[in-house]
Amino acid sequence: MSKCVGILTSGGDCAGLNAVLRAVTIRAIQGYGWEVYGIRHGTHGLLCRPLEYRKLDLNSFDGSVLRLGGTILGTINKGDPTAYPMEDNTFKDRSDEFAEGCQMLGLEAMIGIGGDGSLAILHRLMEKARIPFVAIPKTIDNDIGVTERSIGFTTAVDIATEALDRLQPTAASHDRVMVLEVMGRDAGHIALAAGIAGGADIIIIPEIPYKLQNIAHKIETILKKGRNSALVVVSEAVKTETGDVLQILDLNGRPRYGGIGHYISDEIMRLTGAETRFTVLGHVQRGGQPDASDRILASAFGVRAVDLIAEGKFDRMVAWHNRTVIDVPILEAIHLNSTVDPNDALVQTARGLGICLGDAPY
Ligand code: F6P
Repeated sequence: MSKCVGILTSGGDCAGLNAVLRAVTIRAIQGYGWEVYGIRHGTHGLLCRPLEYRKLDLNSFDGSVLRLGGTILGTINKGDPTAYPMEDNTFKDRSDEFAEGCQMLGLEAMIGIGGDGSLAILHRLMEKARIPFVAIPKTIDNDIGVTERSIGFTTAVDIATEALDRLQPTAASHDRVMVLEVMGRDAGHIALAAGIAGGADIIIIPEIPYKLQNIAHKIETILKKGRNSALVVVSEAVKTETGDVLQILDLNGRPRYGGIGHYISDEIMRLTGAETRFTVLGHVQRGGQPDASDRILASAFGVRAVDLIAEGKFDRMVAWHNRTVIDVPILEAIHLNSTVDPNDALVQTARGLGICLGDAPY
């Protein structure tokens, strides 16, 4: 029986989103003969009148789209329709308009691709609109608890690793300590993985409290042993030693992390006298081509999400577990946040390699 399925990308973009759109479209059309509508700019496309959407068919995906970063539908990480910011600084519940948009398009099911925040909003909206919903996890932060991996993570780790590959020779040429600040929100997954892959000497993550003296000691030990340079990776949500959160406010007063790389760099210079520079990698980690792992994960998630709709299994999120796609209740997925466990295997790996995590002098 023909079905009309909507799909949207919400929250921050990341590499691999287009690969999901492709997989969902191919499976829905070839496997079930359904129609697929891509909603523009996340939830926003269904609040617009006329509606903003794009019918997706097999011709929408020439050979290039699988390889593209970003999302061909556009996305949004503000303007929650349940508390929509209005010009007079008040908030309005626009979920009825959203539901009306779904009806106007004749949607019978929705697939939402997002992180925990946007999936929570989507879950509420779809419940109110009474449209069956299936979720696909994406976030470079890899902080959605019930899935071992989310789309975008491995590409972000590759990019941060490549940054270390590029910083190492310039550090060695100039006898410098290079500090790389990476994203990850409150989780240190990107910093830990990229730090190991990129040969960092010191990795500082929000989950493991550090002392500047330990970092300085590690650098002095490296220099004493005859190496003239060092690499430090720090995750954006790390606080100062005294516990201050470093944030930047945008024009609307919304805070985002920023500044810890600069702080750590200055403190290393002050304590050790080593010449130090810092680099903030920022949104570079979200752009560019998805790596092979993210394309494979996106394809597996996209196919399974469509199959879940065909099986009548709703309010589920697909997840990666032991080399296979499972599905879990979406409410569980939204509430289980995953930060780095201080006993995690990769933490042990880092310690085994002699990488300083800031909590002890090495
Ligand atoms: O959640 C993904 C993420 O890239 C975080 O790592 C980062 O803190 C945040 O989004 C940046 O958000 P924005 O794109 O709004 O600056």
